[in-house]
Amino acid sequence: MKNWNPNSWRDLPIVQQPEYPDQAQLKQVEKQLNSAPPLVFAEETRSLFKNLADVCEGKAFLLQGGDCAESFSDFSAANIRDTFKTILQMAVVLTYGGKCPVVKIARMAGQYAKPRSSDYETIDGKSLPSYRGDIVNSFEFTEAARIPDPNRLMTAYHHSAATLNLLRAFAQGGLADLHQVNRWNMSFVAANPLKDKFQQLADRIQDALQFMEVCGIDSSVAPSLKETSLYTSHEALLLGYEEALTRRDHLTGDWYDCSSHFVWIGERTRQLDHAHIEFFRGIKNPIGVKVGPGMKPDELIKLIDALNPENVPGRLTLITRMGADILPEKLPALVRKVQEEGRKVIWSSDPMHGNTEKATTGYKTRSFNNILREISQFFAVHKSEGSYAGGVHLEMTGQHVTECTGGAYGLSDEDLAQRYRTQCDPRLNADQVLELGFLVADLLKDARK
Ligand code: TRP
Ligand code: MN
Repeated sequence: MKNWNPNSWRDLPIVQQPEYPDQAQLKQVEKQLNSAPPLVFAEETRSLFKNLADVCEGKAFLLQGGDCAESFSDFSAANIRDTFKTILQMAVVLTYGGKCPVVKIARMAGQYAKPRSSDYETIDGKSLPSYRGDIVNSFEFTEAARIPDPNRLMTAYHHSAATLNLLRAFAQGGLADLHQVNRWNMSFVAANPLKDKFQQLADRIQDALQFMEVCGIDSSVAPSLKETSLYTSHEALLLGYEEALTRRDHLTGDWYDCSSHFVWIGERTRQLDHAHIEFFRGIKNPIGVKVGPGMKPDELIKLIDALNPENVPGRLTLITRMGADILPEKLPALVRKVQEEGRKVIWSSDPMHGNTEKATTGYKTRSFNNILREISQFFAVHKSEGSYAGGVHLEMTGQHVTECTGGAYGLSDEDLAQRYRTQCDPRLNADQVLELGFLVADLLKDARK
């Protein structure tokens, strides 16, 4: 890698970074992080890379999901377990319904930093620095709480380590066993038609497992029946933190960002001549870039070439976030250009960020209907362009929240007040995720015909 090292981004322009008043302390914490153990092992990251190469070639589907922003106050085993189960539940619906392996990546164990549209937030005439995620400052609206605190980098690292530890235990230790499929249902609506639908699917899987067992195939000969891999990801926004956790792999000599398996660049920080592109081009992880409606076809090719000059399948995921109304107008030209130029990318749909709106009751929300419309149109565009709709990227939680409207239970603007818990963007709740799972499974099955 020519002229690259983990800190070469420091010479370039950068946006969306906190202004730490205490620079000496920041340096001190970054140094401490740099000598702390990596959170993931490069070999795990390489297996994800291989799995994503399969997605790129149309042989698997990517499911990425989790909180908009993790928070220190919601850090608990129950929360981690419930998000994990919600991901598994959707994954099994997609695997079974779509007849397709699903690569599972959580927005967890590091999703703490948030880009903001404005540097300041004003409430009742009082202006304070914006909340930038728990890794930077506190959500509380006081002057002291909003001062960026370097110690939070260390706290985020420790929270991420503990989260990853539990995720690995769940994935390998029994909770992800296909025999446990009944235990993943997080539904909180009593009379729930989806619950029955999921129960039927669970029964068919149990049947299949029993049949296979009779034939001599069980978890002891096929461990993949009782285990899964749940990889981690976050938006790598704070490059000081990412740099500190970037390590040279002893087996290959390559550099890996060991803060998580997969990292992505947000829509607000993907300027070609800026720091984030520079940092990302040198790490060997599979990476993503958010692509909004303003992206031009030529610009996209330049971006792809900066990040994946050797055109390696699995390296780069384009996560489109356009909005349900705009997508049919903007996505086709991008897909066509990428096809024409022969660039190997994974296309994944983030149906959340282009569909944020303000409810009549004042809450920031998203409607289930628009989320589904964006995904359906995403599949339709790829179908008509002869390209592969490779994945979805969701903001979701296993908790009983009312943040997005609609879905089978028709949550209304008035209902949002019941359990509106997010510190950032509105998330799909477990019932909405399950419903979306069944709908996406049908789209996936159709796309793979
Ligand atoms: N190991 C396979 C996989 O991860 C099958 C599997 C085991 C699975 N547990 C799962 C699939 C939970 C989905 C959800 O795909
Ligand atoms: Mn978000």
